[in-house]
Amino acid sequence: MSEHTTLRLGSTAPDFEADTSNGPISFHEFIGDNWVVLFSHPDDFTPVCTTELGAFAKLEPEFTKRGVKLIGLSANGTESHKAWIKDIDEVTGSKLSFPIIADPERKVALKYDMIDYQDASNVDDKGVQFTIRSVFVIDPKKKIRLILAYPASTGRNTAEVLRVVDSLQTGDKYRVTTPINWVPGDDVIVHPTVSNEEAKTLFPKFRIIKPYLRLTPLEVGEQK
Ligand code: BEZ
Repeated sequence: MSEHTTLRLGSTAPDFEADTSNGPISFHEFIGDNWVVLFSHPDDFTPVCTTELGAFAKLEPEFTKRGVKLIGLSANGTESHKAWIKDIDEVTGSKLSFPIIADPERKVALKYDMIDYQDASNVDDKGVQFTIRSVFVIDPKKKIRLILAYPASTGRNTAEVLRVVDSLQTGDKYRVTTPINWVPGDDVIVHPTVSNEEAKTLFPKFRIIKPYLRLTPLEVGEQK
């Protein structure tokens, strides 16, 4: 379990073929022209993971609206995933329909460096490390735009994953960045590469707090 790739923001998401709860996939084909949120789980039939998958399934319509496909991964086989999905739906009231990758040999987990090296207690009954709670946001060019890693003991925050998607898509569309705790509708920051002269045209309502901090509301139809 020592071979792994160092992935950074901007790296191309590694391609792979795998079986999933919805049938076999080739990952780059699965991405197609979409955004993708790929997230891993330590193990099937575990409590925190069950709550997380139910929550992602319930929020899936919001991801779909933004052109984002969800795909989970857990280091177990397809039959186990299918049985677990029934439990997830029963427990959380979800209707989970996105694929969960079967990765019993941790092949995908190794490619994406989703293995836990620090927490020696996070191992299966053979002493093999479980996958951690990784999240990768991948854009339609197949570039990795966000990497999160949570410990097995801490459930993630689906709203935060959606918020980052909103920030990335907003930043790709307009020449802006987003401040701390930003959510859509809040003021954004005029990108440092935009001069004040350009900003007057692009963002007529922008205001200068400091020369390096210029805020603006973002209105629908605002120019790029
Ligand atoms: C959980 O999902 O609850 C869990 C999974 C593996 C280790 C610890 C917690």
